[in-house]
Amino acid sequence: MTAINQVTDLDVRDGIAILTLNSPPVNALSGPVRDGLHKGVKQAIDDPAVKAIVLVCAGRTFIAGADITELGSGGPQGASLTDVQDMMEGSSKPIVAAIHGTALGGGLEVALCCHYRVGVASAQFGLPEVKLGLLPGAGGTQRLPRIVGAEMALEMMGIGDPIGAVKALEVGLISEIVDGDLTAGGVAFAKKLLAEKRPLVRVRDNDARVAPARGKPEIFAAFRKAHERKNRGFLAPEYNIRCVEAAVNLPFEEGLAVEAKLFRELLQGPQSAAQRYMFFAERQAAKIPDVPADTPLIPVNKAGVIGAGTMGGGITMNFVNAGIPVTLVETSQEALDRGLKVIRGNYENTARKGKITQADVEARMGLIKPALDMQALADADMVIEAVYENMDLKKDIFQKLDAICKPGAILASNTSALDINAIAAVTKRPEYVVGTHFFSPANVMKLVEVVRGGKTAKNVIATAMAMSKRIGKIGVLSGVCYGFIGNRMLFARTTQSNRIILEGAAPARVDKVLTDFGFPMGPFAMSDLAGIDVGWNPKTSKGETLRDRLCEAGRRGQKTNAGYYDYKPGDRTPVANEDVVKMIREFAASKQIRQRDVSDEEILQRCLFPMVNEGAKILSEGIAIRASDIDTVWVHGYGWPVYRGGPMHWANSIGLDKIVARMREFAKDDAAFWTPAPLLEELAAKGGGFK
Ligand SMILES: NC(=O)c1ccc[n+]([C@@H]2O[C@H](COP(=O)([O-])OP(=O)(O)OC[C@H]3O[C@@H](n4cnc5c(N)ncnc54)[C@H](O)[C@@H]3O)[C@@H](O)[C@H]2O)c1
Repeated sequence: MTAINQVTDLDVRDGIAILTLNSPPVNALSGPVRDGLHKGVKQAIDDPAVKAIVLVCAGRTFIAGADITELGSGGPQGASLTDVQDMMEGSSKPIVAAIHGTALGGGLEVALCCHYRVGVASAQFGLPEVKLGLLPGAGGTQRLPRIVGAEMALEMMGIGDPIGAVKALEVGLISEIVDGDLTAGGVAFAKKLLAEKRPLVRVRDNDARVAPARGKPEIFAAFRKAHERKNRGFLAPEYNIRCVEAAVNLPFEEGLAVEAKLFRELLQGPQSAAQRYMFFAERQAAKIPDVPADTPLIPVNKAGVIGAGTMGGGITMNFVNAGIPVTLVETSQEALDRGLKVIRGNYENTARKGKITQADVEARMGLIKPALDMQALADADMVIEAVYENMDLKKDIFQKLDAICKPGAILASNTSALDINAIAAVTKRPEYVVGTHFFSPANVMKLVEVVRGGKTAKNVIATAMAMSKRIGKIGVLSGVCYGFIGNRMLFARTTQSNRIILEGAAPARVDKVLTDFGFPMGPFAMSDLAGIDVGWNPKTSKGETLRDRLCEAGRRGQKTNAGYYDYKPGDRTPVANEDVVKMIREFAASKQIRQRDVSDEEILQRCLFPMVNEGAKILSEGIAIRASDIDTVWVHGYGWPVYRGGPMHWANSIGLDKIVARMREFAKDDAAFWTPAPLLEELAAKGGGFK
C-alpha cells in the first residue's frame, strides 16, 4: 500500500490498482481529495503492472459531493476537478468506481468519468445541486443524460432526489450490484472486464441514450409544466433543464460550454447564495450555546396530544409517522371521531398517491390510542397540548396534566403566541414545560419553534429539539414573547397590510405583490385560510374594525366561502370581490383615511421592512439566538422564498442603510410604528448586516 497523500492510498494487487480515498466524514471533493485522485490515477496509469483501476472510498460513503465550503470562498485549492476527470476519462486502463453510501453531486460526476460503476444495494446516486440553487457544474449535466436518457436526467437533476441501486442498475447508471465486500466486488468486476476484453466506455461518447429525445421539445415542455408550481421563481430548475436540452441537442463540448456558462451565472447570482446560506442556517439552528450537544435526552417512547383539531391531528401524524405511539385526547366522542377521520383521510390520500401502502395506513392508525379522559396520559413521556388558544383553558389543562402525568414527563404547548411562563407557573414542574409551536398544516410544514420558558430545563430543550429532528422537522429555539419569533414578525406585517388596504390598494393587489415576491400566498388569502374570525367575538362586535364588518357580514374566510375573497364550494382559489373592496373603501372613509394609489414597491417595503425591524428587536432581546434562526423560521414556517434567504438575509442583501432611510420616510406619517430598532440603526450606520 502506498500513501499518495494524507487522504489517498494506492494498492496494486494482481494487476488491479485499488485507489482508496479516506477523507472523513463524507469524502467531499476537497483540494486534498482532488490531488490524491489526480496523483493516484496518474501513478496507476504509469505503472506497467496495473491493468485496471478500482476507485473506492473508506468510511461511510463514496464521495458525497463537492466541498460546498469551497464554493463562494477563496476558490478551490489543488488539482482542478476537470483535470482529475479528464485524466480518469482519458485513461487507457479501465477505471471502475465501486460505490457505497451516497454518490452525490461532484461524487457522481467523478463516477461518471469512470468507465464502469458498480455499487452496493444500499448505495444512492444523485445530482442534487438544484436544491442549493445550482446545477452540476463538472460535466454531470452532459454525462448523466448520456447514460440514463433525457427523461431520467430531467428527474434526477431538475428535482434533485437521489435514486437507489436497483433503479441505477435498471437505468444503466451502474453495471452490477455488489453483494458482500465492495472492494473485492469491484476488483472481481475489473478482472471480468479484462478477461472479457470489454471496451473502455467513455460516457461522453454515448450518443445513443440522448438521440431519442432529439427534436422532441415536448419532453422538456411537459417536465416544465409538471413542476411549474413548485419551481415558481426559482432559476436553478430551469437552468438544469436547459443543460439537459443542450446534452440532447449539442455535441458534448458545446454542451459543456452551456453548462459552464449557466453554472457560473447561478453560482454568482443571489438565489444560490441565499439557498446555500439557508443550508447552513438550518443546521446551525440545532446548536444552542448553553445547551451542549451531549446534553442527556429524555427518552420519548410514548406521546400524548390534547385536542384533535387542525393542529392536534397534524401533530399526532408527525409522531405516528416516526413510529411513536400517541394517546389522543378530546372532550367528546364526536370531536375525536372527526379528528381521526381527518387523519385517516390524509393517510389514505398518501396511499392513493402510492407513497405508502394500505397496510401502512392501518399500522399508523393503529398507533393512535383515542381517549376522552386525560388520565390516559399518565404514562406518556411527552404531551403536546393543542386546544383552543385560550389562556384560562391552557392553564386548566396544564394544572391537570401536572397531576396526571408521571414525574419527568415533558408538558408542551402548541400555543401560537401565549406566555409559556404563565402556563408553566400553574404546574409544580415548570422546568418540564416547553413550547412546541408547529405550523399549519402540521404534518407538512417543516418548522417547530421550540419555546424556552424562563425555567425550562436544558435536557427538556435538548429533547424537544432532538424530537423535532426525529419527526422530520427543523426545530428553532425561541424565547418567550407574544407571538415568539415568527408570529411576532407576522403581526408587524399584518399591521401594515391591513393599513395599506385602507389607503387604497385592494387585498388582491397586496397579495399579488407578495406572491410575486415568492410567498405561496399573500396576507389576505392567508387570513381567509386561517379564518378571519379567530379571536373575534360576535357578542361584542360593533362594526368598529374592518374585521368586525367582514365577520358580521358572514365573511369569515374560506370556511364560509367568503372572506376578503369569494370561494366556490370545495375550491380554495380566491376570487376577488368588488363588494369587499367597496366595504373597505367605506370603512376607510368613515375613519377619514385618505385613499390614494399605493405603488407595488411601497406595498412590498411596508409589508417586509417592519418584519426586518421586528427581527432586529427579537435579536437584541435575545428571543432568537441568531439572525439565521429567524430566517429559518420564515422559510420553513411561512413560505418565505428560500431563494431570497429569509427576511434578515434579504435585508442584508438590500442594505440595512437603505431600509433605515426608507423607514424614516414612512415615519413622517407614523413615527411610533416606523422608528427603526436600535440594533437595525446601529448596523445600518456601521454599514454592516445581520450576522
Ligand atoms: N390553526 C393554526 O394555523 C395554528 C398554527 C399554530 C398553532 N396553533 C395553535 O394550536 C392550538 C390549536 O389550534 P387549532 O387550530 O388546532 O384549533 P382547533 O379549534 O382546530 O382544535 C382545537 C381542538 O381542541 C379540542 N379541545 C378543546 N378543549 C379541550 C380539552 N379540554 N381537552 C381536549 N380537547 C379539547 C377541541 O374540541 C378541538 O377539537 C391553538 O393554541 C392555536 O393557537 C394553531
